Amino acid sequence: MKALILAGGKGTRLRPITHTSAKQLVPIANKPILFYGLESIAAAGITDIGVIVGDTRTEIRRALGDGSRWGINITYIEQEAPLGLAHAVKIARPFIGDDDFIMYLGDNLIKDDLSLLVKEFTTHKPQAQILLAHVPHPENFGVATLRGADVVRLEEKPAHPESDLALVGIYMFDKAIFEAVENIKPSARNELEITDAIQYLIDKNFAVRARIVGGWWKDTGKLEDILEANSLVLETLTGAIAGSVDELSCLDGKVIVEKGARIINSSLRGPVIIGSNTTIINSYIGPFTSIYHSVTIENSEIEHSIVLENSSIKDVKRIEDSLIGQNVVLLRTQKKPAAYRIMAGDSSRVEII
Ligand code: TTP
Repeated sequence: MKALILAGGKGTRLRPITHTSAKQLVPIANKPILFYGLESIAAAGITDIGVIVGDTRTEIRRALGDGSRWGINITYIEQEAPLGLAHAVKIARPFIGDDDFIMYLGDNLIKDDLSLLVKEFTTHKPQAQILLAHVPHPENFGVATLRGADVVRLEEKPAHPESDLALVGIYMFDKAIFEAVENIKPSARNELEITDAIQYLIDKNFAVRARIVGGWWKDTGKLEDILEANSLVLETLTGAIAGSVDELSCLDGKVIVEKGARIINSSLRGPVIIGSNTTIINSYIGPFTSIYHSVTIENSEIEHSIVLENSSIKDVKRIEDSLIGQNVVLLRTQKKPAAYRIMAGDSSRVEII
């Protein structure tokens, strides 16, 4: 069995972060999203992993290398443009050959153990096994209709969903999927859709089974979902202090302070993670916040947010529900005339009080 991880795509919903970096490398609890998927695939005993890359190929390659860090072999597969999930399957044929494989969307996070999914697939040997999750707004997802464990219909973002079961970004296939991706046509948005490929299998009476996720699942394509995924993962961690915390600081709940980080006269309310070589001075870091490495936060308050590397925040009263990119400077200034002075990248969003 092999694995195919999709780490290309456009990432339009996460601009401006995706103007300069890969969304799959945004850290959740200070670990790139992509590493979670990779680690659970490796934990399921799969060592041959193909990674689909697009415009952010250099960054993804730099982050993953040859995979030896996880005891796996990575083969990079170049996608010339984000032409759809089924297009990614199509171009992976030389790598997959006739093997069964698990396909994992690189921006998805799931609590469940993938080895259970793999075991179910190898026991029942369907042509495809999909994962489903109950969601409050199925009209925003690919939606499945089931008969027992069999999938009888898939619909992409239906106006009137037949169920609340959304397609999770983790699939298992045997080689029949290659016949499907060769026979479907691009959709209205000009992509080869994986839902159409799976529907092709259903229409040809191939076996398509479903499994409903037990724990949580998050597609981190949007800011709110990234923040929620960050909260969910932070809650599962155990507090640990490797950096320094002075006697004027107060730590409450699950707090992780990584090596080389310094906490000075500050209050940290967990779950919170502070990255290596980050300095927090005279500040409050509230629950569900991840501060990455080499950040400085001074005289500020921040809660339910993620701050990426090398950024600095000074004298800012309160930040909530935010994703601050790399090398960002946020500060209150005494300069006159008193005014907001902003250099925000294309598609940035700044809310001001
Ligand atoms: P999506 O989130 O569906 O698409 P996207 O990354 O283009 O984002 P947006 O909708 O905000 O523009 O993609 C799911 C995952 O699959 C993600 O990790 C990117 C990857 N992907 C590819 O590798 N190739 C593709 O052709 C597409 C469409 C996605």
